[in-house]
Amino acid sequence: MKEKKMAGGTMFMCACTKEECNEEFTIEAFKNPEGPDTTIVALSSLLPPVAIAVAVIAIFYCYRVHRKNKFNKKWEGNQKCIKHPNMECSIMLDDDRSDISSTCANNLNHNTELLPIELDTLVGKGRFAEVYKAKLKQNTSDQFETVAVKIFPYEEYASWKMEKEIFSDINLKHENVLQFLTAEERKTDVGKQYWLITAFHSKGNLQEYLTRHIISWEDLLLLGGSLARGVAHLHSDHTPCGRPKTPIVHRDLKSSNILVKNDLTCCLCDFGLSLWLDPSLSVDDLANSGQVGTARYMAPEVLESRINLENMESFKQTDVYSMALVLWEITSRCNAVGEVKDYEPPFGTKVREHPCVESMKDNVLRDRGRPEISNIWLNHQGIQLVCETISECWDHDPEARLTAQCVAERFIELEHLDRISERSCSEEKIPEDCTENTNK
Ligand code: ADE
Repeated sequence: MKEKKMAGGTMFMCACTKEECNEEFTIEAFKNPEGPDTTIVALSSLLPPVAIAVAVIAIFYCYRVHRKNKFNKKWEGNQKCIKHPNMECSIMLDDDRSDISSTCANNLNHNTELLPIELDTLVGKGRFAEVYKAKLKQNTSDQFETVAVKIFPYEEYASWKMEKEIFSDINLKHENVLQFLTAEERKTDVGKQYWLITAFHSKGNLQEYLTRHIISWEDLLLLGGSLARGVAHLHSDHTPCGRPKTPIVHRDLKSSNILVKNDLTCCLCDFGLSLWLDPSLSVDDLANSGQVGTARYMAPEVLESRINLENMESFKQTDVYSMALVLWEITSRCNAVGEVKDYEPPFGTKVREHPCVESMKDNVLRDRGRPEISNIWLNHQGIQLVCETISECWDHDPEARLTAQCVAERFIELEHLDRISERSCSEEKIPEDCTENTNK
């Protein structure tokens, strides 16, 4: 071996030319007393992977911080969002894009601290509770967000609990279902109360809206389509992103239990009588759930307490009947049908303000009566298709009724047809305009 001094230490090189010259080779011959010790070698070989891991973590952390800042800035700008410190969530309400962030939506307020809420005006009164417009204040400033507070008196604990539980189903969250913020128990001067805090919609409920407004064909498509999508979502056994979900039936669908959002789409509310269609429910459980709802909107089989308890679909079919009556109410206020009459609820003049089950039985079962579809309505091709859908949804035979999903799809088809006819109209107009221009 020949010794050679190098910059980094001493190197030994073979200096012979004979065959098998390394026969007598031993490792000690190579041992450099000044060479790097094994700890340094081990550390230096570990260094690159550790450095790469640290860099990856740092980049991911920076990315998350950047995204969070971007998100916060976006909502700080439009004042439509509050980040509530207790709830670790941001809410945006009464806005077409209104949303309660997913960390918070459908969660209960497990904090003992109550939300800083100041009640404003009474906006609705139901069977079990009153609804108030309210201010949800920000701790640090005078800023507030408008929310709705549904207040149940002490005696209506069961209704509050039922609705709270339905709202707590994370799979209920949908753009056509009222956004839930939280539920609270409050001790007040007038005793214990139970609160449900939700999004506030300034256009109020659909019945109030239709009473005050005549609507266009486009509005009908928005209101009707979104109503069907909301019901289809409740009834569905999966969420829009494909997660399994237990179907829910509303059991009290009516125009006063539907809210109108700013973009003129509907959201369903008032889940106090709703039921999860859990496959583990027995026929007895379902039978005990009883005849519930509002007589005016009750399907024939509900009026005569003859729901097929063997088939869970029967409950969905009763919702579809009620939905048909609401679709009729919407259509009756649409100016595409010609002259529009004042708003009237379904079976308006035939029964009194709060008809009982017996008088609805006379109309719906004995006389097989349904709200009138005037021949004039059928002059509009789109309205005619809506009316055919309505008739198929209020069929006496529950099995013959369409599903809410099918109704939602029909509305989507109607929107497509509408767009196509709008396009062909504007295409027809272009040559005319061009001719006019060239003639000039
Ligand atoms: N009436 C009942 N609930 C309401 C809500 N969330 N917003 C506006 N009006 C209502």
